[in-house]
Formats: sequence, C-alpha cells, structure tokens
Amino acid sequence: MTDKIEFAFNAENAKAAKKHIEKYPDGWQASAVMPLLDLAQRQNEGWLPQSAMDYVADMLSMPPIRVYEVATFYTMYNLKPVGKHHVQVCTNLPCWLRGSDSIVGACEKALGIQFGETSVDGQFTLSEMECLGACVNAPMMQINDDFYEDLDSDSTEKVLEELKAGRTPKTGSQGIRHTCEPAGGLTCLMHQADLKAEKAGDA
Ligand code: FES
Repeated sequence: MTDKIEFAFNAENAKAAKKHIEKYPDGWQASAVMPLLDLAQRQNEGWLPQSAMDYVADMLSMPPIRVYEVATFYTMYNLKPVGKHHVQVCTNLPCWLRGSDSIVGACEKALGIQFGETSVDGQFTLSEMECLGACVNAPMMQINDDFYEDLDSDSTEKVLEELKAGRTPKTGSQGIRHTCEPAGGLTCLMHQADLKAEKAGDA
C-alpha cells in the first residue's frame, strides 16, 4: 500500500474537516475518522491513496494503522482509482433471489468489463457488493451516491446508457412503485389512503 501522491485538504474540505472534528469532545477526535476519509476520497476523484490516509491520521493524532484498518474494512472506501461512475452491484442473498445475476450480466454487456475492472475510457468501474441496505427493492445497484432499485436487465442497461450519454438517469425504483410501497398497491394503512383521496376531493 504505497503511492507517491501528495495529499492535503483544500480550503473547503479543511473547513469541513474542522467542523466534523469539533463535534467530538477533547480526546475523542479519532471519532471523526470516517467523515474525514470520506472527504479525502471525494477530493481525490473517488479513491484514497495512502498519503490521504496518513494525512487524516496525522490530523486526528492517530497511528496510521488505525486509519488503514477503517479504510480497509468498509467497502465505501476505495483503495485504488475508480472510474467516474462506480457501479456497485449487490449480489447478496435477497438481490440474488430477485435476479442479481441478470443485473451483473447486463452491466458486463453494457460496459464490456467484469467485476474489479475499469473501462478503458476511465468512465466506469464495476464492483460486486454485499448488502447495500435496499433489499426491499431488490435487485439493486449503487452508482456513486445514488441507488437504482427494482432492476431488470433492460432497466439496468437503460441506466448505464443514460450515464454514457452524459444524462442523469432516474434514481430509486425503476419499476412502477413509489419508493418501497408494495408493488401491487397498498395492503395496509388503507384508512390513510382514503383520507388522502378525501382531501384530494375537497381541493
Ligand atoms: S441484499 Fe441487496 S440490498 Fe440487501
């Protein structure tokens, strides 16, 4: 884990880092390690060189190894360069049962890369993920900070084509449901639905 990249927070991130550190009592500044690593990663085009981890360690008066332990434990931190769009497909059990194999296939076909690879033009990196916490709308993938849910191979390809064309695809459920409401319509809280309809009628 060595690199020759120099790292220091820019003025804006130095200010944001200070704010994070101030949230914790004296002697507990190390608690700010995760948001500071996140800031560093965003400043450095989506990945953390060793120099950035050392910089954060120094800022928080932590032994560098403690920062490496955090950065290597959480998959949200990338320890090598990633493409402009980091496509992270969940293949954990609920997503797998709902067809994540076909989502992986659609990504491989649309991007021409496999898990762990970055496209030649540097636009896309494809990664396999454990549960990303959106099982209710499985299968799903995360691209940078956005979730795309209720996917099938067609909607997956469509999302990727939109990104390739420089457009912003619709985030969240790609199906017909609103957020994570039941796909077949409400099955409970019907009273609230009636009230909403009544209110709409009054308007
Ligand atoms: S298993 Fe895929 S989001 Fe939880």
